[in-house]
Amino acid sequence: MSQSFETLLLERRGRVAIITINRPEKRNALNIKTREEGAAALEELRGDDSVGVVVITGAGDKAFIAGADIAEFAGRTALAQRAVMVGRSLFTAFDTFPKPIIAMVNGYCLGGGCEVALACDIRIASETASFGQPEINLGIMPGGGGTQRLTRLVGEGKAMELILTGEIIDARTAFEIGLVNHVVPPDQLEAKTMDIANRIAEKGPVSVALAKEAIKIASRSNLDEGLRREVDLFSLCFSTEDKDEGVNAFLEKRKPVFKGK
Ligand code: COA
Repeated sequence: MSQSFETLLLERRGRVAIITINRPEKRNALNIKTREEGAAALEELRGDDSVGVVVITGAGDKAFIAGADIAEFAGRTALAQRAVMVGRSLFTAFDTFPKPIIAMVNGYCLGGGCEVALACDIRIASETASFGQPEINLGIMPGGGGTQRLTRLVGEGKAMELILTGEIIDARTAFEIGLVNHVVPPDQLEAKTMDIANRIAEKGPVSVALAKEAIKIASRSNLDEGLRREVDLFSLCFSTEDKDEGVNAFLEKRKPVFKGK
């Protein structure tokens, strides 16, 4: 049984859970409540073995997430802002989530919204989506991981240009610089996203989680350390029933049935 939320919708479709940020009248901007509820929804899904993959999107056809709720910035002190970001970090909740998360980007994906997408594992965009880190226009800078994750994903030069100019780019440009995996017409966004989500969700959950962990190590360690960790995680797969099932199913020329054990 799901908790009920004020600012988001949580739906399960087979082994895929869909979180929809539901403040379309504010272009799904992230206020404190949304951050808390987003982290709580992820916590619920973390322990739910019936869920293999999470998709996050925004309600309506205009925005994925148009950033932090700027109205909350007015009059806020530095210490209060730090408490919001450290104590209720939605970005850390995404980053440390063990199952794959796919951003289904249906519109404005700006500031903290772009940082949410960057903290996801795969990004699929509608042709109508747009991306940017416009914080510089407010006299601030990205604070939800944008300077770090965008730089790792698209390289220092492109990250510098986007963050320092605050320029908004279209989905095609985002694809060209490697910010998104796919760009599709708006009416195909959900089908494309669910196709990828379902294909991942039918794999063995333990090997999916270990593979995700190994890939995340790549941008956080040097090559020797990453390769060592990969061997450890690869070897750990050999302790699972799913490894026996996958190998036997191949040898017996049948489809594997994974149990997540
Ligand atoms: N924080 C708070 N409110 C926001 C918001 C944000 N990040 N983004 C949009 N809104 C609100 C608007 O204030 C407006 O509220 P109102 O109807 O009470 O006046 C409502 O959402 C609709 O926004 P509007 O600007 O009229 O819609 P639009 O479709 O013409 O433009 C954007 C959409 C996203 C281009 C524009 O709202 C914008 O530039 N938002 C800020 C983006 C940003 O700087 N994000 C980084 C924050 S750190």
